[in-house]
Amino acid sequence: MDDDRDVRLLRPDEMRAAADLFRGALHHPPVSDVEWDTNPVGDCEGRTYGAFENGEMVGTTWSFATRTAVPGGATLPAAAVTRVGVRADRTRRGHLTAMMRTQLADAAAHGGVLAQLTASESVIYGRYGYGVATRGEHVRIRPRTGVRAAAPERGEIRMLPRDGARDVLVPLYERLAPARPGTMARNADWWTRSRAWAVNDGGVLETAVHTGPAGDDGYVVWTVDRGDDWVLRVSDLHAATPAAAAGLWRFLLGVDLVDRIVAYKRPLDESVDLLLTDAREVRVDGRVDELWVRLLDVPAALAARTWGDGPAVVLRVHDHLIPANDATFRIGPDGPKLVEGDPAPDLECDVDALAMAYLGDRRPSELVAAGWWRAHEPSAPARADALFATGVVPWCGTGF
Ligand SMILES: CC(C)(COP(=O)(O)OP(=O)(O)OC[C@H]1O[C@@H](n2cnc3c(N)ncnc32)[C@H](O)[C@@H]1OP(=O)(O)O)[C@@H](O)C(=O)NCCC(=O)NCCS
Repeated sequence: MDDDRDVRLLRPDEMRAAADLFRGALHHPPVSDVEWDTNPVGDCEGRTYGAFENGEMVGTTWSFATRTAVPGGATLPAAAVTRVGVRADRTRRGHLTAMMRTQLADAAAHGGVLAQLTASESVIYGRYGYGVATRGEHVRIRPRTGVRAAAPERGEIRMLPRDGARDVLVPLYERLAPARPGTMARNADWWTRSRAWAVNDGGVLETAVHTGPAGDDGYVVWTVDRGDDWVLRVSDLHAATPAAAAGLWRFLLGVDLVDRIVAYKRPLDESVDLLLTDAREVRVDGRVDELWVRLLDVPAALAARTWGDGPAVVLRVHDHLIPANDATFRIGPDGPKLVEGDPAPDLECDVDALAMAYLGDRRPSELVAAGWWRAHEPSAPARADALFATGVVPWCGTGF
């Protein structure tokens, strides 16, 4: 069958049908009027695509503009890709591939140095150059014995009024977030959507701010499900320092009438177990991919982050979708330099595997050991480890 196929930008009046299509692909009901009214999508207008067969929409992919922190503290323009779906009766016909190609070009045309997403399945996006750039842990706690006597005291905690929380959180998040590579800017539509999700699900959002010696330095947002077990679900927790994070967890562990605390995709170095008298009250249910990053402009991305010390390495990057990225770089403590000609590289990797080391989540030597990178010189993996090292666990902490 020779179908007439097309990928094109959607008009604002087509966005709701696209939202329903996406929800259908994830086995959710269509968007209700309340959800549509409380979930603004203006930030995605002009950059949302549909895939069409014979004039009928069968797939969609959305994005909005953000900025993402990279090692050293710079933030880069990025496309936050979201709501990707193809109708179940039209999958495996290349619609996603066609949309991804168009969207990558569009994201670069909007000035994006990175594109990023969170994935429903881990096998989908590597072929388009996305790699797992940050990971998180699902943490489940049954608080019983409490916090160790020697655990740091917390600072002041104050709960915010439900209808005024956002005014405090927006500037606080902006101040806290760039501390970790991988954190991203949140626009006004994002804040409205994220708070509407919880409320539309029937939850009550509570917020507490932690104040340390230098002022407000962290916050937590949560809901409590009152089923057979009463479960406190942490939906957002950002802190400027480990001490502020510990203070917020100390507070959560002391909230009354809670059987369990559940928090998804927490940073790998949060270590709540170290605070507890009985460390086994914390169970890590899974360590999962969090942010997938696609380097749209490899030279700009490499130049924007800071680098560790030590002798330089020559790295050949392969990118079958964006030819300007398919190049060789000499990377030293001062950053990357494009190497002309076809020099023998010390290391080679595809652009998805470069993303796995870019924010500092994986060491080049572990990527070589697992076959994601290839080494042509025995000392190269260790040299690359020293250069890519950041000393900070990267993490995004924003669902989108
Ligand atoms: C994931 C999804 C968007 C893929 O769309 P699609 O149009 O079927 O993808 P394509 O036909 O372009 O497939 C491209 C390639 O990826 C593979 N692929 C795509 N989705 C896959 C999946 N879920 N599992 C395994 N392989 C997958 C295809 O087999 C194909 O491989 P090939 O290039 O070697 O032939 C679609 O299956 C879907 O909507 N799934 C449910 C919703 C969802 O998970 N959305 C993603 C949210 S992050």
